[in-house]
Amino acid sequence: MIGAVLSTDELRHRIGLLPRQQLAILPTGIQSCPRLAARAGVGELLVKRDDLTGLGLGGNKTRLLEFILGDAVSKGCDVLVAGGGGEQSNHAVQCVAAANRVGMDAVVVLQARSDGRSNGNALLHEVFGGKTVWIDSDPKFSDRTSAAERMHEEADRLRRSGRNPYVLESSLHPLSVVAYVEAAAELYDQLKALPANPARIYVTSEGAALGGLMLGTRALGLPWEVIGLDWRPTQSLVVERLHAAVETAAEMLGIEEVPEESDFVIHASGGPAYGVGRAESWAALRDAARLEGLLVDPVYTAKGLAGMLEDLASRPVGVNDLIVFVHTGGLGALFAYEGELRRHVINFRTSE
Ligand SMILES: Cc1ncc(COP(=O)(O)O)c(C=O)c1O
Repeated sequence: MIGAVLSTDELRHRIGLLPRQQLAILPTGIQSCPRLAARAGVGELLVKRDDLTGLGLGGNKTRLLEFILGDAVSKGCDVLVAGGGGEQSNHAVQCVAAANRVGMDAVVVLQARSDGRSNGNALLHEVFGGKTVWIDSDPKFSDRTSAAERMHEEADRLRRSGRNPYVLESSLHPLSVVAYVEAAAELYDQLKALPANPARIYVTSEGAALGGLMLGTRALGLPWEVIGLDWRPTQSLVVERLHAAVETAAEMLGIEEVPEESDFVIHASGGPAYGVGRAESWAALRDAARLEGLLVDPVYTAKGLAGMLEDLASRPVGVNDLIVFVHTGGLGALFAYEGELRRHVINFRTSE
């Protein structure tokens, strides 16, 4: 069944009924990158600057946290309990910064890593003053399960001491999807004056940003092809979890046109492991910096940008077509990668 198409005003109205805390500077800009476009073989490449959302060093999580903390504050919560993948978690840093902005405390459960990187986001986390609970990866559980269990243990402990915690098990939450439904409406408003519809919207995401942009595109009846770009080796269950969060977000907003699980396209650009770059992602980082003065980060957006270039090479669009790359941020991690940046970018020679 084809559901009713909504106007951006109606969609914004429905989103506006949800509790929210203002954290981001919106709309984020869109910027034409003609030299990267030429490198990608497309007529026009616009970068949507969600790296400049305005909280800490910015990034995609700021949008999500407006709704998450809106929910937390509306429930009278006074401490945010969240988690992150490791020492370079943008999510964890953004959670702490967001909690600071609304006068809440933050406790972040992080899985200990042994890569010895103490700067970048690891340092920013301490600057923002987040309390960290370190866990070792527990072989009994998947990492996600053991992290969530530790978050709830921490929340119980806080409750016993009279606090009212809000547990955010994962950034993939229906309210996070809502945030990127709004981003789709925002992007539509920015692009509608242009002569052509974008052929493709690329975003470094297998989670809320991808889900929200897809759902928003469907809700508004737009012909955009939205493509997620992976930042880690492909995981089982990712699309199932994503679809569940998107369905709940659609219910919250009364959107009838919901993507099926099989509609989600995630390009495998994640390389050998989380946080480990590959030659193509270092090349993408170098090109963005040197052709456009644009920074992408080694953990997420360099991999995404490389994936976009690979997808465009294998499935070219027309030479006059417009492409959008949603830059999800992550710049705090750059400074933790000095060694790799020296090797693969600063001292890079083409004979390598
Ligand atoms: C900078 C950046 N880009 C992309 C992502 C991926 O987002 P998603 O959870 O939507 O896959 C993250 C997640 O932490 C991130 O920090």
